[in-house]
Amino acid sequence: MRYLFELSGEHPDLPEWEAGALLSCSGSAELIERDALAAVFMGKATPDEFAHRISLSHFLSEHLMSVNLEDLESAVEEIDLSGYYTAALKARVAENRRPEMDTRDLIGRLGRIVSRKTKIDLENPDINLRIYIGESAHIGREIVSIDRSQYEKRKNRFLPFTSPISIHPRLARALINLTAKSPSSRLLDPFCGTGAILIEAAMMGMKTHGSDISKKMIDGSDSNLRHLNLNAELKRLDVGDIGEFSGKFDCVVTDPPYGRAATTKREPIERLYSRAMDAFAEILVPKGRVGIIVPDENILKYESQFELLKKASIRVHRSLVRNFAVLELK
Ligand SMILES: C[S@@+](CC[C@H](N)C(=O)[O-])C[C@H]1O[C@@H](n2cnc3c(N)ncnc32)[C@H](O)[C@@H]1O
Repeated sequence: MRYLFELSGEHPDLPEWEAGALLSCSGSAELIERDALAAVFMGKATPDEFAHRISLSHFLSEHLMSVNLEDLESAVEEIDLSGYYTAALKARVAENRRPEMDTRDLIGRLGRIVSRKTKIDLENPDINLRIYIGESAHIGREIVSIDRSQYEKRKNRFLPFTSPISIHPRLARALINLTAKSPSSRLLDPFCGTGAILIEAAMMGMKTHGSDISKKMIDGSDSNLRHLNLNAELKRLDVGDIGEFSGKFDCVVTDPPYGRAATTKREPIERLYSRAMDAFAEILVPKGRVGIIVPDENILKYESQFELLKKASIRVHRSLVRNFAVLELK
């Protein structure tokens, strides 16, 4: 199927990468078009295989067509609505690309075209047409509206064990999606803290394992997971001892201490990261992956063991930008 993702504007690349990564988990993903607000992918996966895992898009639609702006009205005219009793049409314009455009006027004109073919029902239509205008116009039939409020509800401050070191659930989910090759991956977070990454992995049905040097953090992760009726294997371990978990892991997704709020137990951060990378190489399956947040991209010395697949700067808090890297075992 050809999918049209309405990308969140949280980052220039991550939402598109997440869409591609989720589709590739269930077969192939080919990027057909990328525009300001949207990306069109061809993928083999069915929506129920991946739509519930999305964190960085607002809507998922079936892509109907992409046209030049001057051809948009005739394209809407051509859409076959004969099987639908009611319809709605929603359009978004990338204002930085089309500052001159009067969006309300456009929606009015397109809505009149649709209303000549079927009844308009904005609340509960049989078909919801979504149109995104950037360099060109992309038209889709909405499949699902992504429930992004779920991530707000799982924020650390709403859980029994809270700590300022915790990362936002949406970011945790995105890191997992960008790293894991399968929805049933065996995942380890060896710096699990309050369990934000473990919670998102367990919610997606992954085989979830976590460790941390601090007993307080392990107990805290445990109470947060239990509060949400989720399960993970937890061990109190220094990162150098993660070989104590039995079996290999498909991926490590983690947010190690930055040497600021989260403690390194006085170990120089470069040494901790170097020990961690050695330990990850030992416990991963061949071509296993690491998704890691680092304070500075030069701190990671991975070249001898891992290949860099993706990197991006991400906003962790309002005043804090971090680097995210996805690495694959050579
Ligand atoms: C940035 S925090 C992780 C925050 C986590 N992502 C969350 O959302 O709560 C880093 C964690 O690494 C742990 N840590 C520090 N040194 C460690 C070591 N040598 N081995 C394992 N864990 C360690 C700390 O106890 C802390 O919980």
